[in-house]
Amino acid sequence: MVKKQTHPSTTPRERTFLVGVEIFGEEGLLSLDDSLDELALLAETAGLDVVGELTQKLNRPNAKTFIGSGKVNELKALAEDMLAQVVVFDDELSPRHQRELEKLLGENIRLLDRTSLILDIFAQHAKTSEGMLQVELAQYEYYLPRLTRAWTHLARQAGGGGGRSGSVGGVGLRGPGETQLEVDRRVIGKRISHIKKELEKVRAHRLRHRDKRKKSRLPIVALVGYTNAGKSTLLNQLAQSDVYVADQLFATLDPTTRRVELPGGYQSLFTDTVGFIQKLPTTLVAAFRATLEEIAEADLLLQVVDISHPNALNHFEAVEETLAEIDAKHIPVITALNKIDLLKASEDAQETLKHYPRAIAVSAKEKIGIVELKELLKKSLYETYTPILVRLPYQQGNLISIFHESGKIERIEHERGGVLIQGRLPGRLIAQFDGWEISPDEETSKEENYEE
Ligand code: GTP
Repeated sequence: MVKKQTHPSTTPRERTFLVGVEIFGEEGLLSLDDSLDELALLAETAGLDVVGELTQKLNRPNAKTFIGSGKVNELKALAEDMLAQVVVFDDELSPRHQRELEKLLGENIRLLDRTSLILDIFAQHAKTSEGMLQVELAQYEYYLPRLTRAWTHLARQAGGGGGRSGSVGGVGLRGPGETQLEVDRRVIGKRISHIKKELEKVRAHRLRHRDKRKKSRLPIVALVGYTNAGKSTLLNQLAQSDVYVADQLFATLDPTTRRVELPGGYQSLFTDTVGFIQKLPTTLVAAFRATLEEIAEADLLLQVVDISHPNALNHFEAVEETLAEIDAKHIPVITALNKIDLLKASEDAQETLKHYPRAIAVSAKEKIGIVELKELLKKSLYETYTPILVRLPYQQGNLISIFHESGKIERIEHERGGVLIQGRLPGRLIAQFDGWEISPDEETSKEENYEE
């Protein structure tokens, strides 16, 4: 397992015990062991210190305690022996499981699951106001039905939102007959509706930006990939820019867009997005839906796969699943098999290429295959362009310049009242040319067409 660098922290790292369960018939994309390795990476990224793990294979989860009751006793004893302060389950625990397990494990052990861990990492890494609000919303929606202890417990968990939680804590005056828990729920409920309103405002702002980007009429390529695959590094290479790169899971949370020049002076925009992961919490997919939907608007997807990772193919499939969830399956994809510098035999890369559609082997770090990748990107963008023949009067100067800037002109003829253009346009621009398209037979009838 690759050991990851964790975020700098001045607080001592909490000793953490992991629990993985395999349910027969519900095996995920990764094996139990691989999934636990990934959980260990997540835990380390979140600033925890993994001291041990326990696994169980079950026909179905125990209704009360998820793992069997005997296993809970074993877990408690092991966790105490190892002086663990935190126990993390690899699956999302229901509110009931959470309650029962907290009761049995006792007050000295903080219980987390994969979802709360990912939420915590997202909270640490969100940088834009929309990202922070989205994570905070996902955290509160996740914790609300699971609230078993007092507010302080939640404020401690709500990483990025901690400061803000404190500020609403003061509203928590107890009404007649209200328990502290009820107060907490009421306060959180209010906070959720406040965040939702804030998000609407921030989104309106982002949409204005997106419209501006669309107006720039450049084709858009979205980079997608499993967390840590090397998307940001590749974007830096392609755009010769300086996007934040870190050997951490989910270092990039907020979309970053850069202009990239492809061969032949072809301009395009590349967007780097949040890394995907298997069992991506549904609360997060929902919270990030708006950001993820930007992917669905791209002209082309560039899926980055860390080919040196033993589970590369499973990662690829996990990304494909999330793409289907956000309705982006219709967009053409190119696959960049990254980190080939880490492969022992370079022939391995050639062999692996066969398993992926439209793939190319690269090393973003060592700048291998970048020129070829750019060429393939250009070709693919070009192919996604639709052939079109239009006759545009000079009054439609705007459309003429769109064709010049974003299309590929194969033939242009200047006629008396306007121009005849044959060429290709990105699919998303075709609609704007509605009404001006002509068939090859109509080409001969010239000037009279400009009369109306
Ligand atoms: P998320 O933010 O989690 O989505 O990650 P990402 O896909 O943007 O990955 P990022 O570019 O941050 O790279 C993750 C780690 O892989 C960093 O330590 C990079 O230096 C390293 N890396 C990226 N590309 C290569 C490569 O071609 N070869 C090697 N050896 N390492 C690479």
